[in-house]
Amino acid sequence: MTIATGRNFLHTPGPTNIPDRVLRAMAQPAVDFSTPEFLAMLRSIFADLKRVFRTESGDVIVYASNGHGAWEAALVNALSPGDHVLVPGVGHFSVNWAEMAEAFGIVVETLPGDWRHGVDPAAIEAHLKADTGHRVKAVLTVHTDTATSITADLPAIRRAIDNAGHPALFMVDTVAALGTVEFRMDDWGIDVAVGGSQKGLMQPPGLAFNAVSRKALAVSDGAKLPRLYWDWRRRQDEAYYKWFCGTPPEHLLFALREGLDMVFEEGLENAFARHARLAEAVRRAIAVWARGNCLSLNAANPREAANSVTTILVEGGHDIEKFRLTCRDRFNVSIATGLGPSRGKAFRIGHMGFVNEPMIIGALAAVEASLALCGIPHARGGVTAASEYLATA
Ligand SMILES: Cc1ncc(COP(=O)(O)O)c(C=O)c1O
Repeated sequence: MTIATGRNFLHTPGPTNIPDRVLRAMAQPAVDFSTPEFLAMLRSIFADLKRVFRTESGDVIVYASNGHGAWEAALVNALSPGDHVLVPGVGHFSVNWAEMAEAFGIVVETLPGDWRHGVDPAAIEAHLKADTGHRVKAVLTVHTDTATSITADLPAIRRAIDNAGHPALFMVDTVAALGTVEFRMDDWGIDVAVGGSQKGLMQPPGLAFNAVSRKALAVSDGAKLPRLYWDWRRRQDEAYYKWFCGTPPEHLLFALREGLDMVFEEGLENAFARHARLAEAVRRAIAVWARGNCLSLNAANPREAANSVTTILVEGGHDIEKFRLTCRDRFNVSIATGLGPSRGKAFRIGHMGFVNEPMIIGALAAVEASLALCGIPHARGGVTAASEYLATA
């Protein structure tokens, strides 16, 4: 029996639920983008994004693009052909960002990783110490890898770069973390941060960000990769048309304005605490299911487990796609399968952005029922454990 009425519970790790307020903000005509009102709105968005990235000295660039575009923007602005970058190979998105770098003639030095642990700051420090000629121009790190659901310790990585006395830029993809967990660009010495709209910020897909330090802007002046549309400098031109290098994506910006209002009404710290609570509820459910000796948390070190998404490993060759489709088509709950090496061996529950307790409990109940329907071994009571945790936390 398929139940098609009621809401679809969107628990993919992006795109995420869009609040009605944000949807309504887009239901308006296009406007003349030269009006003082529109320009004031734009300025307020750029100012508020700086608050989200926690940067006062840096600048934020907004692209009409998805995260891949912002990845490319970060690379072509900061690097030159033949430059080396250091990439900890700890997940799908760091590997993909590195592959993109290679397409631009950048040489990738990869630190081996097993996808069940986060970035090892000591390995970064050792690698950079050995790079006495400063061949490495940037360290590329993913804050929360959406495939592994592991969050990197960014301050520790910053310390590792400093301990090595290395001038490399610190470039961070915070696409799947921004708005869900602390991120402090200035305090943590991050030079380039890549963000996207469609995850923690509760937006439609289509906007992506680069937050850029003064050091990165200075490096960018001498960077040699061809760029025009993505060029940070061009987009800082006072001619407002060029803030977007063309027509501003007005409706996505109306949505973003509303979403940022919601972020600050809740308060960033409160949003982080909410994400931590909901993620812990998911992990409590998994801890119970895991007693069936088939399911386990991908994050081998629970302290590294992400607050925005959870990856659950499934042993025994069970049909994960059938399980995912049971969740979606039978219970109207969308989850995701594993990526890269864990494709067919894992599923992922997204819990970022516009989510609350009953949504999480509902999603977990559908997952538990689908596990039973698909014959995937698990101990019952995961949903109860999650709700008991929420009742006390
Ligand atoms: C951590 C991370 N980086 C980058 C991307 C790419 O973003 P997009 O799909 O918007 O291009 C994603 C998408 O899921 C992501 O999770």
